[in-house]
Amino acid sequence: MEERKVIFRLRRYDPETGGYREDRYEIPVYRGMTVLDGLIWIKENLDRTVSYRASCRMGLCGSCGMTVNGRPTLTCETQILSLERDELTIEPLYNMEPVRDLVADFHQFFKNQRAIKPYLIRRDIEEQVEPTREYLQDPEEWNLYIQFAMCITCGLCYSACPTTATNEKYLGPQALANLFRFYIDSRDEGWEERLAIADSEDGVWGCHLATGCSEVCPKGVDPALAIQLLRREILRKSLGKKTRREARPLAPLLPPEEESPYRAFGEAPEFTVEGAEEAAEKFNILHDPRKR
Ligand code: FES
Repeated sequence: MEERKVIFRLRRYDPETGGYREDRYEIPVYRGMTVLDGLIWIKENLDRTVSYRASCRMGLCGSCGMTVNGRPTLTCETQILSLERDELTIEPLYNMEPVRDLVADFHQFFKNQRAIKPYLIRRDIEEQVEPTREYLQDPEEWNLYIQFAMCITCGLCYSACPTTATNEKYLGPQALANLFRFYIDSRDEGWEERLAIADSEDGVWGCHLATGCSEVCPKGVDPALAIQLLRREILRKSLGKKTRREARPLAPLLPPEEESPYRAFGEAPEFTVEGAEEAAEKFNILHDPRKR
């Protein structure tokens, strides 16, 4: 099979000079090879000084976002041949300060994420400090927010957003989508303060609905939709409409072991692997508060 070559043009930021320079590398491409694989190949074979961020190489950690041919891209999930180009231009993500070469600074991004309180807000403080069991949640309630909980904080939406590019105080699509994810979670009781955070020019009213955020999201989160739904909630509230129902309570306490319904399924089969029974017992002791 004929070997295909692709040129990687890296726009590398130099913190010493505060400017960029472009370096070109020709790399052999095989079927299935990702843009991140290409960068790794360059580092291993041509130039050890090239810097970029990556970790899981499977689209989970959100570290490897870069701008590829002008588009914010998760490089470990993007196959080179799928781009159908002989040359790729790779830069750090836009709307973030560059650190070195292809690495962008996520400080502001995560500051915005912290500002929206990305955790369940509950009044039962005791339960938060010393959790005893889970909160009830129906599959339908889970379905409402799970799409917005798929975010891997890769920053692609933030990098694609024209409002973020022009207003550094704007919370950005990732933080607002995450705010909506908690707002709509049936276990959360922080809806008043969440709407107050969203209801500003640096919140949902800053969005111009360019929808670039939703286009580049590698997980289908659709931040533009979350922002529109948040606007609707704010308007409903201003019209005196009910926006939220009561938060779901804690699940009932487990029945004593001898009354457990799981006994109806009979005894577990014998262990077949040597040492597995001891390991399972250790696990039970570790995870069952009644056995501690
Ligand atoms: Fe983890 Fe790409 S390296 S998402």
